[in-house]
Amino acid sequence: MKTYLRILQYARPWAAFLPQYLLYTVLATLFGLANFTLIIPLLQVLFEKTDQVPTQAPAQLPAFHLSLDWVKDTFNYFFADVLATQGTMGALTFVCVIVVVSVLCSNLFRYLSLRLLAKVRARVIRNLRHDLYSRILQLQLGYFAGERKGDLMSRFTSDVQEVESSVVNTMTAVIQEPLRIIFFFAVLFYMSLPLTLFTLILLPISGGLIAGVAKRLRQQAKQSQSTLGSMLSVIDETLGGIRVIKAFNAQQYIEGKFEDQNDEYARTSRRIDNTRDLASPFSEFAGVAVVAGLLYFGGTLILSGDSNLTGETFIGYVVLFSQVLTPAKALSSSFGNIQRGLVAGERVLGIIDTEPAIRDKPNAKLLPDFQGQIELRNLQFAYGTEPVLQDINLTIQKGKTVALVGPSGSGKSTLADLLPRFYDPTGGQILIDGHDVRDCTIHSVREQMGIVTQESILFNDTIFNNIRFNTQATEAEVMEAARIANAHDFITATPDGYQTIIGDRGGRLSGGQRQRLSIARAILRNPPILILDEATSALDTESEKLVQEALTRLMQHRTSLVIAHRLSTVQHADEIIVLHQGRIAERGTHEELLRRPGGLYQRLSQMQATNAALV
Ligand SMILES: Nc1ncnc2c1ncn2[C@@H]1O[C@H](COP(=O)(O)OP(=O)(O)OP(=O)(O)O)[C@@H](O)[C@H]1O
Ligand SMILES: [Mg+2]
Repeated sequence: MKTYLRILQYARPWAAFLPQYLLYTVLATLFGLANFTLIIPLLQVLFEKTDQVPTQAPAQLPAFHLSLDWVKDTFNYFFADVLATQGTMGALTFVCVIVVVSVLCSNLFRYLSLRLLAKVRARVIRNLRHDLYSRILQLQLGYFAGERKGDLMSRFTSDVQEVESSVVNTMTAVIQEPLRIIFFFAVLFYMSLPLTLFTLILLPISGGLIAGVAKRLRQQAKQSQSTLGSMLSVIDETLGGIRVIKAFNAQQYIEGKFEDQNDEYARTSRRIDNTRDLASPFSEFAGVAVVAGLLYFGGTLILSGDSNLTGETFIGYVVLFSQVLTPAKALSSSFGNIQRGLVAGERVLGIIDTEPAIRDKPNAKLLPDFQGQIELRNLQFAYGTEPVLQDINLTIQKGKTVALVGPSGSGKSTLADLLPRFYDPTGGQILIDGHDVRDCTIHSVREQMGIVTQESILFNDTIFNNIRFNTQATEAEVMEAARIANAHDFITATPDGYQTIIGDRGGRLSGGQRQRLSIARAILRNPPILILDEATSALDTESEKLVQEALTRLMQHRTSLVIAHRLSTVQHADEIIVLHQGRIAERGTHEELLRRPGGLYQRLSQMQATNAALV
């Protein structure tokens, strides 16, 4: 219920449409109700029982007051009038014309209320997607390492759709049907008190049984949505890794994985359908049983003759009552749908409710322009419980270049991720000009950094837009950055030059070209602090040399943290930090480190020299 109300909150402001919606719905219901009650005078005409009509009709047009009596009296007044002046044929025409008019009105108002609802639905879904998307943008990187992408995608697509098709669509049922039930019951009570009391005893029994079915549907829906998420994860991985799958002849292996998920999903879907299909025949049976009970009870009342119930009123009553069953059935079947929608809604709201672990403090300040130094003080970090970085003490003076080297998995990328606050340290501090980065706004910290990562992250857009990415740079500036990154030549060689679309994640470019675009992007931002994580690893020796020159030129006026496997690329760094198993093992300049006998750097350097000689 809480989830349902929260989803409805997304339709705010309610005042903009709820009064209007209620008005349309009430009018549609009243005209609908009028249609069915008109069957009574119709039967009176057909069975020629109109002799009592003049006695029931008031002598003059009754003054308006809001009650069933007024409606009935007004109708009887005109009915008697037509009957007296034009006979039964005229009365038949009269009743039929009124039926047509009131059906027209009822459907017109129904249409108006549906239009309004369509507006609400679009608004709810739009706002829900918006919140979901902006929350995903806010969540820290670590969240995505833990969460499967397919699951997130399924929440975005099928869950939001489920909310749309069930929760929002059932708003009609939830608002309209109870209104109809109330109005219809008011008339039923007015027509016959004992009959209505009798039906009220029977209805709750079937209602309770339907609630049981709904509960089961909800449990099954939960299972089904999470299976769908797993399946989408497999699909996503397949699309991303299609090259590897083919190269390793792993089609069958991955297909097996997919089939497991697919079968599981089919099984849960079947179970849900079975339960849902049960609901309709079940309520049909319950409905007819109730009507039969009613016929029996009402029939006895009429046949025994000790009630003022006439045959026509009773038939009218039964018709009207069968109309109560329709909204009741709609209500119960929408309960099933709501259950599924609520499960989906909970999955969507679950993400919206996830608080980003890394966010601005309430009184976060702006990090002033970088002036002096970056200091890492007793830095500790762990992704989970296992420490990845320990006792890191390091100062980078403005304008200097510090290189991080070390074996794979020693924590270099992790260290680089801590500076722009992709993660916050679990111990110690990162101080930029003495300001702890955790006290500054994330935006102001990242604004001062340019980052080129191990993987080049590009978007399916033009080369121009990928370099310009979120800046206001002019075409000339973009080209200048591309020249520095040694990308200009290959860009102009592509068919559309800077306007070439590069495909999903830059799939139409080579690894080295992708990397040069990432570098150009970082160059264009012209940040005081540069973080280069294996920025040149995907380049051949020739272009690496060119890019390296460009980077060296760029780094002269900047403060840089450079990570590189190839030691030759970092030998000019002002200080080289050798990381080993998350700790600083050695530090110094290239020459100092080489002179240290038996040191890790010396060993790494010798190994690379041997490899180079082999090539
Ligand atoms: N998101 C993550 N969650 C949990 N553990 C992680 C995560 N990312 C990295 N690790 C672990 O942290 C350690 C350091 O990883 P990191 O990526 O910093 O290494 P690296 O020095 O950059 O290695 P490489 O030279 O291969 O890039 C590794 O043992 C790795 O398994
Ligand atoms: Mg790394």
